[in-house]
This record gives sequence, C-alpha cells and structure tokens, in this order.
Amino acid sequence: MIPSVLPTYNRAPLSFVKGEGSWLTEADGSRYLDLGAGIAVNALGHANPALIAALTEQAGKLWHLSNLYQIPEQQALADALVEHSFADTAFFTNSGTEACELAVKMARKYWYDKGQPERVKIITFSGAFHGRSSAGIAAAGSEKMTKGFGPLLPGFVHLEFGDHEALFAAMKDPEVGAVLLEPVQGEGGIRPVPDQCLKGLRDLCDETGVLMILDEVQCGMGRTGRLFAHEWAGIAPDIMMVAKGIGGGFPLGAVLATEEAASGMTAGTHGSTYGGNPLACAVGLAVMNAVAAPAFLDEVNRKAGLLRQRLEGLVAAHSDVFEAVRGSGLMLGLKCKVPNGDMVKAGYAQHVLTVAAADNVIRILPALNIPDADIAEAIERLDRAAQTLGAALRPETNLKGEAPKGQ
Ligand SMILES: Cc1ncc(COP(=O)(O)O)c(C=O)c1O
Repeated sequence: MIPSVLPTYNRAPLSFVKGEGSWLTEADGSRYLDLGAGIAVNALGHANPALIAALTEQAGKLWHLSNLYQIPEQQALADALVEHSFADTAFFTNSGTEACELAVKMARKYWYDKGQPERVKIITFSGAFHGRSSAGIAAAGSEKMTKGFGPLLPGFVHLEFGDHEALFAAMKDPEVGAVLLEPVQGEGGIRPVPDQCLKGLRDLCDETGVLMILDEVQCGMGRTGRLFAHEWAGIAPDIMMVAKGIGGGFPLGAVLATEEAASGMTAGTHGSTYGGNPLACAVGLAVMNAVAAPAFLDEVNRKAGLLRQRLEGLVAAHSDVFEAVRGSGLMLGLKCKVPNGDMVKAGYAQHVLTVAAADNVIRILPALNIPDADIAEAIERLDRAAQTLGAALRPETNLKGEAPKGQ
C-alpha cells in the first residue's frame, strides 16, 4: 500500500522534533550534530533568536498580502538585495525551482523583446541541478531526473562540465540566448567552477550577448564566504537564482537581475500568489541583516578554514575511506572511496548528519554560524564513523585495531 506521504524520498529512520543551533533532537531526546542544515538552508542554525523574533513579530501583524498591493517587507528585502549585489531588481519566489522557472522565462522574453525570438536555447552542464519542475529537469537533462517525464521542455543544450571546446562552439550558436550554471555544483558533488573559467565565460557572454544566469540557490547567501559565490571570480551575472539560505528555513527564493536582463518582464508577464509574502520577507530581511555584514562573512571564512583543515586531517588519517576534500567556504565535500551512502549511515550511528551528493561525495554544509566547538565535535564524530568503515574494510583487524584472536 502506498504510504500516505508520497514515497519520492529514501528517508533515513530519523525523526526530529526540535532544533537549536547546529543540533537536532529526536522525541526520545537523542541529539544529532547537523552538518547538512536542511541542505544549505538553515544558514543561521536552527531556532535562531533573531529569525524567531522577525517571524513572530510579523506573524502578529500580517501573514499574507496579495502582490496586488505594496508589501513593505518585500520592498525592504528587495532594496537590501539590490544594495548588496550586482542586481537592479528582484522577484520573490517560494523556492529555488520557481526561481529557475522565472530565470528561463526572463532570458527568453529578453530576446523575444529584442527582436531575436530565435535565441531560445540555454546552455547547461552535466551534473547540474536546477530543481524538479519541468524546466528544471529539462535544464539538468540527466536521465536520472528526466526519464519517464517527457516530453521535456525543449531548448536546452547540455554540455559536459569542464568541456571548454564544446562551450566555445555552443556559445557561437546564433540561437543560444543564455548559459545557466551553478558557480559551485551542489547536488553534482560539490564541484566548484574555477574562477578563471567563470571569468572566461563572462567574457564570452559579453562578446556574444549571451545572458549569464547563475544558480546560487545552494552556493549563495554567504555559503562560500562571500555573499554570493560569483564574487570570488570578480564577475557579475545578468540573472541569478537564489533560495535556500535566503529564508534561513522559511520558504523563500528570488531571481535577481540587471535592469537590462529584466527588461522584458513587464506587468502581467509573471506572478506568484505567495512569492514575496510578508512572513517570508520579514525572515529574509533578518537573514540578510546578519549574513551580509562583513564581520559575519569574515567569520564564515575563518570557520571554513578551520573546518577544511580538520577535514584534510581526516582524509589523511582515513585514506582508505576518503579521497579528498573539495569545495568553497562552508560548502564542502568529502570525496569517498567507500560508497558515500555507507559514510552517511556511519555518520548517523555517530549522531552526525551529512548529505550524499553525486560523484560519491558527502556534503558538509553546516550552519554558517556553527560554533568552533561544534566543528571540533563534528570532526570527532566523523573520525569515529570513518574508523568503523575503515575497520570493516580490514577484516584482519577489529575496531580497536587489534588482530582477532587465533590469527
Ligand atoms: C543549485 C540548486 N538549484 C535549484 C534547486 C531547487 O531548489 P528548491 O528545492 O528550493 O526548489 C536546488 C535544490 O537543491 C539547488 O541546489
């Protein structure tokens, strides 16, 4: 019999009823150290006092207001995002997937209005993840996401991640209107696009007019140690998708764009009942106030350095379990030699939560304000988890590293 919750997830046998900072608690009181943060969502940890205050204060005033009217919290958040980014304008959504939908529409409408309606093609890359809507899965293009869901939205040109020659050739196609990529692939296995490649791509976009759409749903909002990941490369996109961390756990996303790229999106061309809702924007503003502060981002970078150094040590100590550390800021991945699902499960046994990704990687995406003591605790727990896996790989030794009796 089908479960009452549609079984589209392989869920772990863990059920949490409470969260505080980087910790999650089950009904029986067992505590788990959360290095997934809702997959890069709980940027300020669980039950952050500033976010609780923003949400409860707004809840007492006004929950929902149609976009038929001015929404002061939405205006304030849009102003803050514009002030702190390349963008001139923002549209609010409830998720990253919806942001992807608008980004695709915006790019196509841009070229339509410019009198080049044939420029509908959008270049994307293997390993990409842009959400599970029809546009999102067509954009990613992988068999895993698209099989059985055809006919797919046409117009996506799928290239191999890192294939520069194919990219140069595709960018010259007169029907290409945009290129869509994550500066650091998340689901694809924490694969950063090198800064020089982002710069090179920006130059190509400038030469050809192709719009650069960056998906910063997972890597944005301070995750890499800059407010937005592309800032490391010293470039700016034309259109950017954000979500996850921007709501700190409250559903919120946005598309940010330059005035030029957004020029086709006039009244009546797009909308959302809940997008930019007062509750979401009040929380989003509290997140922005915290995360956009230079001192906060400095701390993210310091913590990232500490965590990365400790993870490098872990890889060196368990070279039979791990291959390497990769990523940027507090968006880190451990490439595994054992199946990554085994490492995630071994973590559960040590009460530490990580998230599997493609390319046999486990993701470490803690709250951006994770205390140093929790980083140290995380390393101890991951170390114990790796020890159990390593011991299982060496049947001649038991957990304490001793040879079994009789051998
Ligand atoms: C890079 C990226 N884009 C888009 C999405 C889709 O966002 P959402 O799940 O909020 O719809 C995700 C979600 O994991 C993501 O990581």
